[in-house]
Amino acid sequence: MTDRLTITRPDDWHVHLRDGVMLKDVVNYTARQFGRAIVMPNLTPPVTTITAGRDYRARIIAALDPAFDFTPLITCYLTDDIAPDEVIGGHSEGVFTACKLYPANATTNSAHGVTNIKNIYPVLEAMQKAGMPLLVHGEVTDSQIDIFDREAVFIETIMTPLLRDMPELKVVFEHITTSEAVDFVREADANIGATITPHHLEFNRNAIFQGGIRPHKYCLPIAKRETHRLALRKAATSGSSRFFLGTDTAPHTVAAKESACGCAGIFNAPHAIEAYAKVFDEENAMDRFEGFASLFGPQFYGLPINEATITLERKAQNVPDRLNLSGADIIPFHAGETLAWSIA
Ligand code: DOR
Ligand code: ZN
Repeated sequence: MTDRLTITRPDDWHVHLRDGVMLKDVVNYTARQFGRAIVMPNLTPPVTTITAGRDYRARIIAALDPAFDFTPLITCYLTDDIAPDEVIGGHSEGVFTACKLYPANATTNSAHGVTNIKNIYPVLEAMQKAGMPLLVHGEVTDSQIDIFDREAVFIETIMTPLLRDMPELKVVFEHITTSEAVDFVREADANIGATITPHHLEFNRNAIFQGGIRPHKYCLPIAKRETHRLALRKAATSGSSRFFLGTDTAPHTVAAKESACGCAGIFNAPHAIEAYAKVFDEENAMDRFEGFASLFGPQFYGLPINEATITLERKAQNVPDRLNLSGADIIPFHAGETLAWSIA
């Protein structure tokens, strides 16, 4: 049994750091654990210009505790009418690492997202040529499609035709939740990768309704049935470099979650690496943890791996019932529970 593990300092390839008063606390929870993070652009207003991207990065760095060695990697939010020059210019200037595709109205702050993938074909063609990754929220938004089927239908109707048209486009299928997505990524070419969150590895859709409605287990894409969770666990711990760490940490205040129309998102940043370690330990795959957490992401993005290391040890720690972030209460993932692993 492994009780202590030293790995290359991990990165988080999918985070929501927010903005304004919340940013300061949120960014440091991520920076404490991770060397770099791919930062989602779904602010109000969204990050759609080089100037907005540069300014957001400056606000993140200003909010950062100087004790942490952390680099935010900024993404550009794709809209129906975004200009290829804005996207490619931002990439070549080193402002945008990637672009994020939100189908319009798929999730939090996605109202300005893309209404039809064909509308952004010129941008995607330019990205393919430039080697700039496309990060995809892979759900259709048609109200006729059952919420639990939206990812699988997206693969069939959007992702597959897109890659047929642009076979060399680098794509990260974000926060995958289904066995269909696992199979799709495993069978695709090497330019396709996927992130997997700790929460989709840890609970299935029953958790959202356990004894009543559980708003703190609600996120998008929504957790699916147990067979899908098991497929995700197998993929994450398989040692395949297609699958890597992306928490999708997405804080919302208690008031915004515990509401007649509660927001989607799980704040897992405070104990993200310990939550993933729990999964790998349960799957007897601690020897594969470093690849998933620290190596496969940089490999996909063509970035160097971090030089620093972190050590995890089997030492119990309690997760607080709630956290206060700049005056607002937030319930973290695993609130009130004990985690078996800690950072040494
Ligand atoms: O649960 C989610 N929360 N899924 C998303 O796609 C967005 C995120 C957020 O920004 O709150
Ligand atoms: Zn997200």
